[in-house]
Amino acid sequence: MNAVPMVGRARELGEIVRRWAHVAKRPRSGPSTVVITGNAGMGKSRLVGAALAGLHPQARTVLAGAARLHSPAPYDWLAAVLSDHDTTRLTVPADGLAWLAQDPHAPSERYAPDALLRLAVRTVRGLIGDGPAVLVVEDLHALDPASLNLIGELAGAPRLPALIMITSRPPDAAVSPQLVARTLARLSGAPGAIRQHLGPLSQEDVGQILAELYPDPGPVSASIWERTQGNPYWLSELLATTAGQSLDALVSEPLPGYLPLSALPEVDLTARELEVLECLAAGMSNKQVAKSLEISIRTVAVHVSSLLRKTGSSSRTEAALWAVRRS
Ligand SMILES: Nc1ncnc2c1ncn2[C@@H]1O[C@H](COP(=O)(O)OP(=O)(O)OP(=O)(O)O)[C@@H](O)[C@H]1O
Ligand SMILES: [Mg+2]
Repeated sequence: MNAVPMVGRARELGEIVRRWAHVAKRPRSGPSTVVITGNAGMGKSRLVGAALAGLHPQARTVLAGAARLHSPAPYDWLAAVLSDHDTTRLTVPADGLAWLAQDPHAPSERYAPDALLRLAVRTVRGLIGDGPAVLVVEDLHALDPASLNLIGELAGAPRLPALIMITSRPPDAAVSPQLVARTLARLSGAPGAIRQHLGPLSQEDVGQILAELYPDPGPVSASIWERTQGNPYWLSELLATTAGQSLDALVSEPLPGYLPLSALPEVDLTARELEVLECLAAGMSNKQVAKSLEISIRTVAVHVSSLLRKTGSSSRTEAALWAVRRS
């Protein structure tokens, strides 16, 4: 499915796989947490995907979720998980489950926050059973406060038979940077937690990818490494737009979907957000943006909501106009 072969990240992968072997052998020794941070496109999700594919023994249960909605709603991570799993055997009160699943028909009677948090932990324990399970929390920086609290509780939950893999952009990319920074610190401080920060790929890594695709990429690999800044996302995009052309195109083609940062002086947008913004300016729907950038609709929704916030726009049309005015 991935056109670009996976390179580098061997140390990180090895660490995760070894930690899983420990969890699988001693499930009741408590959860193990892996916190993976890195800038947009640095390969956090790819690493998680590779780790999931390489776990021995295979995980019996995988609970995976990310922020689902434009404006973060409580327990978004768990709601995403619940939408994918059979909940009929859970011994959790149906009205509480309806709340946690963001069911629009949930009874209007509210739970106290603490009670709801306990129910959420119970729900996850119910889904995991005896485990061992893998919990995947993608894009923690985009999650709502209740989800952040829940993930923190799970990372410290006694005897939870699970490996918890968390990805996050740096806190300054979040809606609430302080809350995300505190949560990352709490998670990294959980007993036995592993912290991994993904930096750019090395020049050798980039050379290795090019060598899989072109006969003699040696002479240009340094300049391609430089222009993509070792960011695997930019490299993948460049390779996709120049597919079928000669190696020279990799050096001469402009980086795709790139609005010069100098055109946007007042607002600090990530590379991915700039691309989404370009798509919005081209009048695309979220579904079309997702297809064009090969990311999930959920991820597009998260980018759009952060774009609206950062550009001070009240609608996607306004954000698109903002882009046009500044280009
Ligand atoms: N180690 C790698 N080797 C080869 N390609 C990679 C590697 N890491 C990532 N990629 C490719 O780069 C692109 C971006 O990777 P990915 O989506 O994992 O980044 P991310 O850090 O999760 O980004 P975001 O912050 O937007 O979620 C994908 O096309 C992925 O296949
Ligand atoms: Mg990702």
